[in-house]
Amino acid sequence: MTLELSKIGVSYDGGGTFAVDGVGFAVGQGELVALVGESGCGKTTTLKTINRLVEPTRGTVRIGGEDTAGRDRVELRRSIGYVFQRIGLFPHLSIADNVGVVPRLLGWERGRIARRVGELLELVRLDPAEVAARMPAELSGGEQQRVGFARALAAGPSLMLLDEPFGALDPITRDELRGEFSALQKELRLTAVLVTHDMTEALLMADRIIVMRRGRIVGQGAPSELVRGAGDPYVARLMAWPARQAERLAAMIGDGGSAPG
Ligand SMILES: Nc1ncnc2c1ncn2[C@@H]1O[C@H](COP(=O)(O)OP(=O)(O)OP(=O)(O)O)[C@@H](O)[C@H]1O
Ligand SMILES: [Mg+2]
Repeated sequence: MTLELSKIGVSYDGGGTFAVDGVGFAVGQGELVALVGESGCGKTTTLKTINRLVEPTRGTVRIGGEDTAGRDRVELRRSIGYVFQRIGLFPHLSIADNVGVVPRLLGWERGRIARRVGELLELVRLDPAEVAARMPAELSGGEQQRVGFARALAAGPSLMLLDEPFGALDPITRDELRGEFSALQKELRLTAVLVTHDMTEALLMADRIIVMRRGRIVGQGAPSELVRGAGDPYVARLMAWPARQAERLAAMIGDGGSAPG
């Protein structure tokens, strides 16, 4: 599924100030684009215009070539996978009910929902027999985030929106879940927009990176282009930290001498 944002503007105060201003980019079928930038720059707002959790004040969003303004909001939202910033499971629903929430809204019959829930929990490496009946509070943060992924995938969307989906995880779980999602995304040829303020994450996962600042796009390119510091000085500054970190680690590994035998 292709996605195209064109001249998107969002004002939360009826046109006084714009949280997002003139944002446009396209995402090809099966492509993963990362939206990066510091806190408050408009990443989540931009993401939410795609499934109309936020209605753009200006501009258009097209999915598969079709303007989303003409579609039913609720139907649109259910057709797009969404992984929330800060997990966002329904605390009063069991894990199985959380994962099955969209299929249930779509009116699937119970047996089909149960089968799909089992399949998805296995896909995100949770044991259905162990977790299906538990409540979200009875899972670790990393396990809850896996459930968040399973829920987003439940109705078989071809477009996925991910808002800092790895932010709350410890580094090992984060790395593991990133790898698993990347593999899944490629296998299912999912079109995806990943919001993150972690530049290293964007560099490792994205086909293309879009850098936002104060509601606008200030740079974009393939990871290999951006890492060479192409373009805007602000973008170059954001790149400096992961590059320096990589150099230090490479030097340490190159040293070799201190590795325990
Ligand atoms: N519902 C809202 N009503 C009014 N202003 C809002 C609303 N949501 C966001 N904003 C404002 O819009 C701007 C962009 O917010 P947004 O949530 O898109 O940032 P972000 O880039 O996702 O930041 P973070 O990395 O902290 O999640 C901020 O100034 C924020 O205060
Ligand atoms: Mg945000």
